[in-house]
Amino acid sequence: MEKLRHVISARQFDDPEYLNGLFDVANQMERDDVFRALTDPLRGRILATLFYEPSTRTRFSFEAAMQKLGGGVLTAENMRESSSATKGETIEDTIRIVSGYADAIAIRHYEQGTAEAAARISPVPVINAGDGVGEHPTQALTDVYTIRKELGRLSGLRVVLVGDLLNGRTIHSLLPLLALYKDVQVDLVSPWQLRLPLKHREYLLEKHVAFHESEKLDGLIEQADVLYITRVQKERFATVEEYDAVKDSYILDARMADRLKPEAIIMHALPRVNEISPEVDANARAAYFRQAKNGLYIRMALLKTLLA
Ligand code: CP
Repeated sequence: MEKLRHVISARQFDDPEYLNGLFDVANQMERDDVFRALTDPLRGRILATLFYEPSTRTRFSFEAAMQKLGGGVLTAENMRESSSATKGETIEDTIRIVSGYADAIAIRHYEQGTAEAAARISPVPVINAGDGVGEHPTQALTDVYTIRKELGRLSGLRVVLVGDLLNGRTIHSLLPLLALYKDVQVDLVSPWQLRLPLKHREYLLEKHVAFHESEKLDGLIEQADVLYITRVQKERFATVEEYDAVKDSYILDARMADRLKPEAIIMHALPRVNEISPEVDANARAAYFRQAKNGLYIRMALLKTLLA
């Protein structure tokens, strides 16, 4: 794998050994955090978080990660309305300016490809914190790290992905990472309207990943090692009627969760709406809040790799 300069797509991470190294750094970050033993390798460095779409986990965890490493943060949680974008400034000009103030830029944008465009002209590392229906590579790294931590392995898993596979950028980034591991089997469960886009299915074929599409979750819960539920993304639909037609296609309740194998895990990038009942949270298999916390340590590992 090439030296990491920008983080734009999960497809950049094409070496499982590199991922192991990154996950080991994240593990060390967690241990140092728990034992209050973190040092300040990024003292004097600044991360700009430019968010043109809402976020809780990604922005806060990036900012916490930077501060725990001794660095500082320039933050804009609503760039779409609070920045000079409202006056017509282009994203390229914004990046040219912000890169003069910050040592790295984490950007979330509503248009696919924006992070890549920013990276092309940025003299400082750009991290894609979600680009429309494109990708969310730092979430996917968090997800694979979570699976390794929870299950102790990444090979030979059956991963059942459920919900909005059309618009779910976390899934678009997760699949190329899962494809790195041996004997991973993927079930793609969605309403036909929200089927995984062709280019991602073609990628799975190219990488010889065994996958199966279905509109029904029945019969798959018992088989899953990882049950990964996604939110149906209201903000990506043209009309409320189209959203209403599919919004509650899959709802995981406590009885369904109990049908999982004892060692299986339930994942979700969050936020959730109705797709996982709150009663499931008490199930030991519910890994989604641990998954969100892991995002902090993965982002610490990434920032240290990019900047230290
Ligand atoms: N998982 C995730 O991207 O969450 P946020 O939208 O809250 O950042």
